[in-house]
Amino acid sequence: MPTQLATAATVHTQNDFLPLQGTDYVEFYVGNAKQAAHFYKTAFGFQSLAYAGPETGVKDRASYAVRQEKLTFVFTTPLRANNEIADHVYKHGDGVKMLALRVEDARSAWEETTQRGARSFMEPKLLQDADGELIMSGIYTYGETVHLFIERKNYRGAFMPGYRAWTSHYNPTPTGLLYVDHSVGNVGWNQMNKWVNFYEEVMGFRNILSFDDNDISTEYSALMSKVMSNGNGFVKFPINEPAEGKKKSQVEEYLDFYNGEGCQHVALATSNIVETVTALRDRGVEFLQVPTSYYDELQDRVGKIDEDVTPLKELGILVDRDDEGYLLQIFTKPVEDRPTLFFEIIQRKGAKSFGKGNFKALFEAIEREQELRGNL
Ligand code: FE2
Repeated sequence: MPTQLATAATVHTQNDFLPLQGTDYVEFYVGNAKQAAHFYKTAFGFQSLAYAGPETGVKDRASYAVRQEKLTFVFTTPLRANNEIADHVYKHGDGVKMLALRVEDARSAWEETTQRGARSFMEPKLLQDADGELIMSGIYTYGETVHLFIERKNYRGAFMPGYRAWTSHYNPTPTGLLYVDHSVGNVGWNQMNKWVNFYEEVMGFRNILSFDDNDISTEYSALMSKVMSNGNGFVKFPINEPAEGKKKSQVEEYLDFYNGEGCQHVALATSNIVETVTALRDRGVEFLQVPTSYYDELQDRVGKIDEDVTPLKELGILVDRDDEGYLLQIFTKPVEDRPTLFFEIIQRKGAKSFGKGNFKALFEAIEREQELRGNL
């Protein structure tokens, strides 16, 4: 099956109407961008990159861009009430607003997708400053989440026009995070296939993996999931919907607290998960814990791996194997007070899948947290 998938992907790339070069940045709408940026620098090891706000001529918001390797996060907060950003934060709490994708041609990306039925967020817009020009356009995906298309081949500045470079005397050591591996959306009851069709028809993605509630239900926390990938595989968007279980699905809990559909987690790649997770934990990042019995049968289940099991067990890192190799992964607790957005840290050693073998242990850990919150 992997070979067939690879062949299909290759064929698909040749007539890709939406060639994507990867994730350009992830923008979060938050209640306090200054403090959020500080948290991601301190806890996750990002560096100051760029700032936009009243001092740069932007009157209604403040935005802080931070970077670590190929990962760029932007935190944006409204400066006043009664506007789209303030309403978003009021309704959803802190969360992902933009999953911005790097393209060669942002005008074509907007035209190709809106022609196929996408709802426009922003018509192609040329942004210019002394460092060159950048073209941006955007379409809505699930909920109020947006895919921006960013064409920056003629831009040399720190981030984009409207921002100024942000240098700081506070530059915490990086934690080894490299790039976005995938971003997951939670959608409502019976909505998964609608969004699968959206990614197929409007964005030219393919469904590369599916999980039904037989694969991923524990006693309570049932969900279904389909993984959508663009032609070259640089951008992957799994889509989850809740499934019937004995009690409330983790996806339903998210939908309740986010007040609708949105981004559930962003998976961040590392090339040394033991070092990265050790650093994150030392800086106060909280992770879901599986019972230590998970490690008793680990070697039987996944075979030989390069890593010592002891640090994996100490840190709670999970391992899964597929036909092509194995992967190591771990999930943070939600990074805000609402049980909504969290992060995954992932190291791939050949595997292209998403850790299906870990779903049961993982979801039982999520249910323990849901129960503590009184939401199970
Ligand atoms: Fe994931």
